[in-house]
Amino acid sequence: MSTHKPLVFSGVQPTGNLHLGNYLGAIRNFVKLQKSYSCLYCVVDMHAITVWQEPGELRNATREVASAFIAAGVDPETHIIFNQSQVPEHAELAWIFNCVARIGWLNRMTQFKDKAGSNREKASVGLYAYPNLMAADILAYRATHVPIGEDQTQHLELARDIAQKFNTDFGVPDFFPQPEALLQPEGARIMSLKDGTKKMSKSDPSDQSRINLNDDADAIAKKIRRARTDPEPLPDTMAGLASRPEARNLIGIFAALDDKTADEVLREFAGAEFSRFKAQLTDLCVDRLGPIGAEMKRLTADPAYVEGVLARGAARARAIATPILAEVFDVVGFIRAKN
Ligand code: TRP
Repeated sequence: MSTHKPLVFSGVQPTGNLHLGNYLGAIRNFVKLQKSYSCLYCVVDMHAITVWQEPGELRNATREVASAFIAAGVDPETHIIFNQSQVPEHAELAWIFNCVARIGWLNRMTQFKDKAGSNREKASVGLYAYPNLMAADILAYRATHVPIGEDQTQHLELARDIAQKFNTDFGVPDFFPQPEALLQPEGARIMSLKDGTKKMSKSDPSDQSRINLNDDADAIAKKIRRARTDPEPLPDTMAGLASRPEARNLIGIFAALDDKTADEVLREFAGAEFSRFKAQLTDLCVDRLGPIGAEMKRLTADPAYVEGVLARGAARARAIATPILAEVFDVVGFIRAKN
């Protein structure tokens, strides 16, 4: 890893089927960032177990996310792909952050409230402390840039607050940097194919609502054909789609996959019926996702290779985190043999 470029850290949870939303909202951006940053991309298996995971499925999903990174074009030699639990510094720093962050801060986290729902008493302590672990992920490397979706901005704010409080409490002003979000543009928010007001999600009971990264061409074609639309033809600007969320979503997907703006796509399809647009969208999806799906399939058949990538990535990640943690322990007042 070259050290003169600023450091990016991001994490993806291994909790089941990766879909088009994960690709366009996160993974594709990870690929692009490789040019300007040194990147650590982490499969956050420790975050995943904040809610119950079947151990065998967790292992499969961890390899699947790593495979998706590789298949999409993340280079695991120039950059680093690893799983979180294989670098113990994350847990070590998270504990210290458990003692820096305030209960009042965590009480304000909207994602905890959403995920714990009405039964907070039954939520795991890990789910509550989740943002502290996320702060540790980033700060164990002193990463300065963090590609995230809108839904993680509050967690990143908390990481900044933790960094600041650590620096102040221990009187070490520039010890941790203030990590910055690299937010995805609005168009990258991919919605359900069945309801344009809901995010595309792996937890939607209908598989028809999402395009999975391992869907074959037939499945992609079928899902797009059945995607919800409305009876109007397409307008010539996005302003004309204000109250048509499903149409807006499909145009957004086309634009993202074709690296165009939504208005450029509409200029191409102004006045068109959905049937023609959907046929083209299918071709584009198959063209862009087909090779990724095929490569993921190949990698899935070679778990030893993928685990080798994770192990080498973890060793390289540790080489960055270990000296930083040694400084942290010293600042905090923990006695450690120096070696
Ligand atoms: N919490 C993030 C999510 O659910 C995943 C994540 C864990 C992460 N650690 C991170 C993202 C560090 C960015 C940086 O999407």
